[in-house]
Amino acid sequence: MSEATNERRRKLSSRDVALRKGGEPLVMLSLHDAVMARHAEAVGVDMILVGDSVGTVMLGMESTTPVTLEMIEHHASAVRRGAPKTHVVADLTFGSYQVSNEQAIESASRLIKFAHADAVKLEGGAEMVERIAAITRAGIPVMGHIGLLPQTAQITGGYRVQGRDITTAKRLIEDAKAVEAAGAYGVVIELVPEELAARITTEIGIPTIGIGAGAGCDGQVLVASDLLGNDETFQPRFLKKYANISEIIRTAFREYASDVRGHAYPGREHVTHLPDETLDALKQAE
Ligand code: KIV
Repeated sequence: MSEATNERRRKLSSRDVALRKGGEPLVMLSLHDAVMARHAEAVGVDMILVGDSVGTVMLGMESTTPVTLEMIEHHASAVRRGAPKTHVVADLTFGSYQVSNEQAIESASRLIKFAHADAVKLEGGAEMVERIAAITRAGIPVMGHIGLLPQTAQITGGYRVQGRDITTAKRLIEDAKAVEAAGAYGVVIELVPEELAARITTEIGIPTIGIGAGAGCDGQVLVASDLLGNDETFQPRFLKKYANISEIIRTAFREYASDVRGHAYPGREHVTHLPDETLDALKQAE
């Protein structure tokens, strides 16, 4: 899509997203600031996720568990300012929806009302149907998230592929159906073998958005910072790095430091000068 064509495009609603089931693959990027959001909108990505991955990719946290709703509200507001015409999904954080339906509605409402997100995402399958149904009934579109659940991964056995054996594979199919029946308009499937994600995709009527779940999903999501290669130590199998931004950043920082130390920056072209009359007046004041 050219950037001019994209400018005329209208923002996708949750219904538009749901209707893309089985059509052109949905493109989603998880990102956390206005500048990145502006780039994503300029090239016409379908959806932006303000994921709680902000904790690990931007805030130096070990996991997404400590990320707070206030942080997502802060980042989602920035993303909305950068991408006013893109469907924005904001993550409900660990502890902001598990307690009760009321708590879940309150948290979701905050992200819609104050950060102007279009929808919220929460982690969990069958065990979360009440929350998904309650938030949906309150008029807020919900995207589900099954498979690897990063908010609880450290407690439940780490970051590993989910649904490899028949029991867990069947459970994931049931989770996807439960999330759909509860009213979700789409579901993220994280770190699941390709055959299983493809099977889930054919068994439910809402779009599946895969991350580490193969090519059989209705769409894909990646964390922008990961696909840009911002962390040279992070190379899971599913990740395709489209750039090596960490090297570009370090080269630039290195050159800047060397310029400052070598008195090469700022150069003549980077400075402003006092007007002659101010300079004269300053001299007379000596
Ligand atoms: O937090 C996030 O960015 C996510 C994606 C990895 C799906 O949940």
